[in-house]
Amino acid sequence: MKPELLEEQRESWGSRGGFVLAAVGSAVGLGNLWGFPYKLYSYGGGAFLIPYILALVVVGIPIMILEFSIGHYTQRAAPDAFKRGHKRFEIVGWWGIVLAFVIITYYPVILAYCISFLGYSILGIFNGGDLPWAGKGIEGVTNAHDFFFKDYLGHQEGTALGSIRWNIVWPLIIAWVLMYFCIFKGVRLVGKIVWLTVPLPWLMLLILTVRGLTLEGSMQGLAYYLDPVWSELAKPVTWRYAVGQVFFSLSLAYGIMITYASFLHRKSDLNNNALIISIADFATSFVAGLAVFATLGGMAFVTQQAGNPVRVENVAESGPSLAFVAFPYALAQLPYSAWFSFIFFFALVTLGIDSAFSMTESILASIVDKTGWRRSIVLPVLSLVGLSFGLLYVTQGGFNWLDTIDGFVNGTWGIAFMGLLECIVLGWLWRIGTLRRHANSRSDWQLGRWWDYLIRLVIPILLGTLFFWQLFDDISSGFLFRIEAEYQSSLDESVISEELRKDFEDKGSVISQDATFTVEQAGMSWLITDEENKYLLLMKEEGRLNVYNSEGGFLRTPGGEWKLPNCVGLFIVALVPVFAVILSLVRGRRDVEQPSSKEADFSTRGRYGGVVAFLLALIPAVGLLVILLGSSIPEAAESKLGNPVFWLLLAVGIIAMGLSNHLVDKHNTSSSQVSWFARWAGILATVDVSAFIAVILLGLKGGVKISEETMPIRDKLSGVSYIILGAVFLIIIGGLAWCFYRALLAANAGKGIQHPDEVGDETAD
Ligand code: PFF
Repeated sequence: MKPELLEEQRESWGSRGGFVLAAVGSAVGLGNLWGFPYKLYSYGGGAFLIPYILALVVVGIPIMILEFSIGHYTQRAAPDAFKRGHKRFEIVGWWGIVLAFVIITYYPVILAYCISFLGYSILGIFNGGDLPWAGKGIEGVTNAHDFFFKDYLGHQEGTALGSIRWNIVWPLIIAWVLMYFCIFKGVRLVGKIVWLTVPLPWLMLLILTVRGLTLEGSMQGLAYYLDPVWSELAKPVTWRYAVGQVFFSLSLAYGIMITYASFLHRKSDLNNNALIISIADFATSFVAGLAVFATLGGMAFVTQQAGNPVRVENVAESGPSLAFVAFPYALAQLPYSAWFSFIFFFALVTLGIDSAFSMTESILASIVDKTGWRRSIVLPVLSLVGLSFGLLYVTQGGFNWLDTIDGFVNGTWGIAFMGLLECIVLGWLWRIGTLRRHANSRSDWQLGRWWDYLIRLVIPILLGTLFFWQLFDDISSGFLFRIEAEYQSSLDESVISEELRKDFEDKGSVISQDATFTVEQAGMSWLITDEENKYLLLMKEEGRLNVYNSEGGFLRTPGGEWKLPNCVGLFIVALVPVFAVILSLVRGRRDVEQPSSKEADFSTRGRYGGVVAFLLALIPAVGLLVILLGSSIPEAAESKLGNPVFWLLLAVGIIAMGLSNHLVDKHNTSSSQVSWFARWAGILATVDVSAFIAVILLGLKGGVKISEETMPIRDKLSGVSYIILGAVFLIIIGGLAWCFYRALLAANAGKGIQHPDEVGDETAD
């Protein structure tokens, strides 16, 4: 670490509040309103809070502190920050930035929808309260759906783009212009603007919540949201979604928090800020859920009274459909619909805008840091490029693309993989202890050694598991190639013969309970009849399962179709590392000095141990490849769980991981560094262990019965839900009070800056 780095102060936020609010602004976005409530509702109601809060504590907050400390320590945006460790790590930073770039091409498109709907609501207010999507009863839901998909988006199915929708182009331009003016002056202005863009949506959400809770029937809605379904906790997917949502919601893994922290004053706190931001984000998500479900409950009540009932589960949806169909529909059933619709879309615009410009800022700062080009030139060019790519999504088929690409970059392929890289590089290849001491030396409360182990071992294993699990799942479910007929999704499991079901499951199909069918088997074909006696005929021909309809017309060969959107999504994600490499190779304005100059003086220790650990880590890796090669993964997973060799290999992986962790701890001292063998042994071993756990989970999936129980009709909140409600508020209020108390204590103690490497610690590096 060069001492001059500490003297040099780059442009900074005006105040601690400005920074905290800007980070909260980035974290709190559309995902809080349309992602969290729906996930809570679908994956166990109140029970989902357990995996969510655990993921927040074990993964979210520690990674946010990690991103803050590396950004603050290096005072650089992500790529340059990683480069301080070693020039080859720069690519990890660019990886996040390229992902952020992909998102910034479509996120403003969603903002554009919000701006349009805000416009319709304002017109509605002037038109005496008439909203263009209003309609009664279940037909009204169709109206609202058609208004968004047909009238507004001009939506067409499939992958063809069709013509440009000019009605969306204009609001898209407005969105980019707004974003431009928020950040063109630099972060000091951002630090001021967020005093508006963060409290405003909170105020709007508060209004919507109070109004929702005072509606008759609101408890009915909240029962859907909060009543726990404990059995969901036994399903691995619940945990997968909890971790994914925490990551997305806190805006981790796109370099944003690194960039934002790089603009912090040298003296600024890191740990406590990260905690405050995380709790504020969680609180916003939770309260947004109260607003959404209370209002849906009110809607259900009103439609019941009118004799044309629409129930909460008829409309509760995730993503854009919740924001642009279900919620506007619900508001239209209630008094003062145009006003509340205005409040809702205003909340969405202000929620989304600071998340959107945080991504632009992160990309912008990375380019400026690397090239030294002027911000005033890079920003307009970047905005124009982002806007031009955005035109892809404002076509008739654009919505499908938006959905698919969002699923990729925000899914396991983008977030989990990037988070994994980050932890691996910083946990094993950097001196994580230096980052911890850096953070501790200026924070209101201190991290212990446990944080190093979280970053180095626990989080990579968790994220690696998610990644491999998704990968294996995708490979085995015909993710790029369609192997099941669409019709199979509407077959009732309970009436399908065991043999047919087995056959379907072999093809990786999903069988739901949408309708009741009877199934008769005749030789190699099955006749499936629904209540109206329409039938499908499934025939096994040349090893394929073909589907015919009641007229005998051929419907499709389930075996023969590429899933184009998935292929394109995967292709784009595969391009991300390519661009990351190219960008890291571009020559920067000056090469950032590396601490390796200091590191080079260290003697290298632990070589023999490192080689042993590496060889040990290699054994499970090869073993797993042999197990998985040549057989379908789920079968292999299920059959191998009973095999002692499988468990033995896992044990070897764990031993290798423990050994390399021990070597890193022992030899990364103030006068020595651990050998690269030990570091890479650790990386390989953590990857091994996570791949094994993924196989175990995949194997268990067949065993754990995933019962898609229909939701019981709920009309009032159960006692447990009240306890959950109380507990969550206690966590939020107690957590924030504790943070502020620590901040006050630290302020009174008048903490000063210390050089991270001079701070006393049980293990001086
Ligand atoms: N955290 C934001 C949300 O919850 O909506 C979305 C987001 C913003 C994700 C910025 C990623 C990002 F880089």
